Amino acid sequence: MPLVTSKELLQQAQAERYAVGAFNANNMECVKAVIEAAEEERAPVILQVSQGAIRYAGLGMATTMVQTVAQEASVPVVLHLDHGTSFLQNVQCLHAGFTSLMYDGAAEPLEKNIEISAKIAEIAHAVGLPVEAELGKIPKIEDYVDGERANELRHRPPAEQVEILRETAGPQVEALMADASQAATFVEKTGIDSLAAAVGSIHGMWADIWPLRRDRIEALVKATSLPLVCHGSSGVVRTRADAKAKGIELRPDECTLEEAVQIGICKVNVATAVSMAFLRGAREAWDERPAEKDLRKVLLPGLQAAKELVRGYMRLFGSSGRIAGAGRGETSEVKHAE
Ligand code: G3H
Ligand code: ZN
Repeated sequence: MPLVTSKELLQQAQAERYAVGAFNANNMECVKAVIEAAEEERAPVILQVSQGAIRYAGLGMATTMVQTVAQEASVPVVLHLDHGTSFLQNVQCLHAGFTSLMYDGAAEPLEKNIEISAKIAEIAHAVGLPVEAELGKIPKIEDYVDGERANELRHRPPAEQVEILRETAGPQVEALMADASQAATFVEKTGIDSLAAAVGSIHGMWADIWPLRRDRIEALVKATSLPLVCHGSSGVVRTRADAKAKGIELRPDECTLEEAVQIGICKVNVATAVSMAFLRGAREAWDERPAEKDLRKVLLPGLQAAKELVRGYMRLFGSSGRIAGAGRGETSEVKHAE
């Protein structure tokens, strides 16, 4: 079916209290993994393209990949710009055929962020496209932990990792969080359609261990009626049971990803976890058969691992089973090298 806008999907998700998964379109295999997961789960889905993906694949390739799978899909698909950091980039993506835009003005002073977000919303709305904008700043783990330290940290028990991150990153993550008292004015002055508010998550985490701030999400839900977007979700601990199994103690003002959706998060961005699942699947396959020469036979298990992860997230978000029908039943396969 033709691409749909994020506005249609998020309004429905908000009304019915679930979240739409937004997964990054970094290569053909990941795009197929996400679409196959959406088909099998009967879930609406957002495929988003970041600046990094545009540099990697080229805007034309990234756009065409998502347009092609959407056209063939029996579930609704959005092509969204993820973390566009300039007006021009948003215009380029609008022109390329994206059906949802994002301006990330977190590096700018608030007034400038408002000014550019409003300008993008104005032109996007003129052609019926919705815009997401960022309030506060959702940091990345590299801002606090360098590669070597991260590698050492990730091998410790999850509860210990959380305690160390609470000390090293916690205060700064808190200082960057969105101020709910600014949300209503931000939304009103920009005219945006969904709000990516910093609510405690950190981009690019290696495991799902970190809590979100329940109090911040609740305050934002009260302050604005717009659908809220959770970024950096790969690192967020998924459920209470999951936290317990990992020995992670949540504080009273914290919550899991599952709870955040119940409170009012309507779009959940997951990138790193998909990438890691894909890499693990491919590496295991090649480790098992190191003489394999056909890249497809190594990449396919990567695709399948990524798909399973995405399916799990769709169930967690409550987006599974929202679309009627049985799907196309086609899955990627490699019969023989040719
Ligand atoms: O915008 C993209 C997301 O926020 C993804 O973050 O890689 O931490 O899942 P993540
Ligand atoms: Zn993000």
